[in-house]
Amino acid sequence: MKILDMPCTKGFMQLAQDGVDKGWHEMNGGNLSYRLTKDEAANVKKVLKKASGDWTDICESVPKLAGEFFMVTRTTGYMRNVMRNPENAFGIVEIDKTGTKYRTWWGLSNGGRPTSEFPSHLKNHEVKLETTGGEHRVIYHAHPVNLIALTFVLPPTDKAFTRALWEIMTECPVIFPEGVGVVPWMVPGKGPIATATSKLMRDYNIVVWVHHGLFVSGKDFDRCFGLMETVEKAAEIRIRAQSSGAMKKSAIQVRQLRQIAKDFGFTLNEKFL
Ligand code: 13P
Ligand code: ZN
Repeated sequence: MKILDMPCTKGFMQLAQDGVDKGWHEMNGGNLSYRLTKDEAANVKKVLKKASGDWTDICESVPKLAGEFFMVTRTTGYMRNVMRNPENAFGIVEIDKTGTKYRTWWGLSNGGRPTSEFPSHLKNHEVKLETTGGEHRVIYHAHPVNLIALTFVLPPTDKAFTRALWEIMTECPVIFPEGVGVVPWMVPGKGPIATATSKLMRDYNIVVWVHHGLFVSGKDFDRCFGLMETVEKAAEIRIRAQSSGAMKKSAIQVRQLRQIAKDFGFTLNEKFL
């Protein structure tokens, strides 16, 4: 099957476009990666026969991802071009046996490289491969405006963000009962922020980058879009409610959060109650 006809390629492009339509991707802001299944990787090898690029350093070590194939957006590329000019805006790369290098098989034309946040994406994938038994395949990073605004309002702690989101929209505790993690402001695109993010991804599927944006992890493109949209919507409600000046300190009460968890049959992360 041609690369552009693969369902995962279509899903990848659709998520990028949906994020653009939401206004989450100014300039080259945000990036996306997807870990291919064995069958998808086999199809890539069969169709293309050989890699198009040489082994290049990832500048990070992800030994558990040795031999995996990833679809990933291009650094400095615009998400709005993923649908319009796929072979330029993203690509398919293979990780080497040591987990320290990648080579391109498809796309990233004219010498393109994976996103500068590739170390963060890969370290998150490595953690999720372990903690979800390989169920999670998608890591998505965007710059949603209200969530970023909230990072100027709340202290940079897991508890402050989890409670602010849980108690402002009833669906939030249902969708992310484990809560959200928060990385304080750090220089993006480097090893330390990748390590800090992936550490939080052990406990959460949603990680806030203060004054920058959001990372989410999920089993498929729909799930990641849904998480991004839910957090951004809750952040928008919070910002609007707080700007009205009349917002009470707390919206949905702890006893009500417990009631939702009981009735819906899930467990809320107790450390945030
Ligand atoms: P890239 O263009 O390298 O993907 O960077 C965009 C971004 O959002 C950095 O955090
Ligand atoms: Zn970013």
